[in-house]
Amino acid sequence: VKVLKVKTKPEYEILIGKGIFKSIPEDMKSRFDFGKVAIITDSNVRNLYGDELKKLFEKAGVKAEIFDFPAGEQSKNTDTVVSLARRMVSSRFDRKDIVVALGGGVAGDIAGFLASIYLRGIPFVQVPTTLLAQVDSSVGGKTGVDLPEGKNLLGTFYQPLRVYIDTDFLKTLPLLELKNGLAEVVKYGCILRRTFFYYLKRLGKKFYELSEDVLTEVIFQSVKAKAWVVSRDEKESGLRRILNFGHTVGHAIETEFDYRVPHGLAVAVGMVAEARLSETFGVAEEKVADRVINLLKELELPTKISDIPGAKGKKLSEDSMVQSMLKDKKVWKGKLTIVLLKKIGKTCFYEVEDFVPVKEVLKEVV
Ligand SMILES: NC(=O)c1ccc[n+]([C@@H]2O[C@H](COP(=O)([O-])OP(=O)(O)OC[C@H]3O[C@@H](n4cnc5c(N)ncnc54)[C@H](O)[C@@H]3O)[C@@H](O)[C@H]2O)c1
Repeated sequence: VKVLKVKTKPEYEILIGKGIFKSIPEDMKSRFDFGKVAIITDSNVRNLYGDELKKLFEKAGVKAEIFDFPAGEQSKNTDTVVSLARRMVSSRFDRKDIVVALGGGVAGDIAGFLASIYLRGIPFVQVPTTLLAQVDSSVGGKTGVDLPEGKNLLGTFYQPLRVYIDTDFLKTLPLLELKNGLAEVVKYGCILRRTFFYYLKRLGKKFYELSEDVLTEVIFQSVKAKAWVVSRDEKESGLRRILNFGHTVGHAIETEFDYRVPHGLAVAVGMVAEARLSETFGVAEEKVADRVINLLKELELPTKISDIPGAKGKKLSEDSMVQSMLKDKKVWKGKLTIVLLKKIGKTCFYEVEDFVPVKEVLKEVV
């Protein structure tokens, strides 16, 4: 089992290993003093792992109850949070009890948010089951839900007590969900870890064989990169924004398709566009875009919008994509700051004033 420390306030540890799922109840008992556990999960993960986890807790002498919600982003709203909270109240969950967030990023964001506001905050642990949740959303303490007006508009910063990453969960994950998470993995290579970038390049589609060594290494390096960033900037006042690499254009693509394209695949194309922009704006000290494109191709990830399943046929407008970039949360005092690559593994912030090159680059990735 590999252990990583996240130095936020409070600090916590992330455990990564094959089969660690089975030892969660005993590990929690040996570390924390708590009463019951509320396992918050979605309808798919409940069937796959939720009932099993409940049994493991009961075997360890811990009372556990499952609170589930229908799988999917459409559940990530205040109605779900209120309904889960009311079910927990009627089952008499109090401040001595613990929330276990079991599932992908949706379950993690909902459960973390609920834990942060239930009785003004009760402790929670994360058990992420998608690659995206394992390498990204379970680390860093961002929780929240969507509003009809936009994604993640209500939320808190709230750190878990501990994160348990079991690589075995990925064996049941659909290929598309693996690709979704892999795009974020590539991002860590681009922004922080040049050697990891080339490790991924050598690995190529062998990643999809999901061998134990490869999964542990990929997750460990990714979590290490994210933990490094969030330990230095917990509340996103500066450095943490480097994690937005690929996301400015990525979000514009998602908006164009009313969020009907997979997030990670939009980010993959976003990284191509932003790597190309690094060259156009004269920031890149080496050819970054071709390197990013080659890696994405090796990993069978899209490099153009037309490669994204579900994105065929729609005519895209560069003007409206630029408009949605300007409406992004990343616009500060009317200026759009994007993350560009100086080199593979090295970034800088860039304030965009001229949007003509942006439109040219967008045309290239259609
Ligand atoms: N808090 C953060 O810092 C942060 C960061 C990135 C993304 N997010 C959020 O994460 C969410 C996306 O997360 P996601 O991609 O994990 O989506 P998700 O939670 O909806 O999971 C994707 C699908 O996979 C299923 N699933 C989960 N684990 C499985 C397994 N082991 N085997 C088979 N199926 C499984 C789920 O039921 C779901 O249908 C978004 O809401 C996004 O805003 C949050």
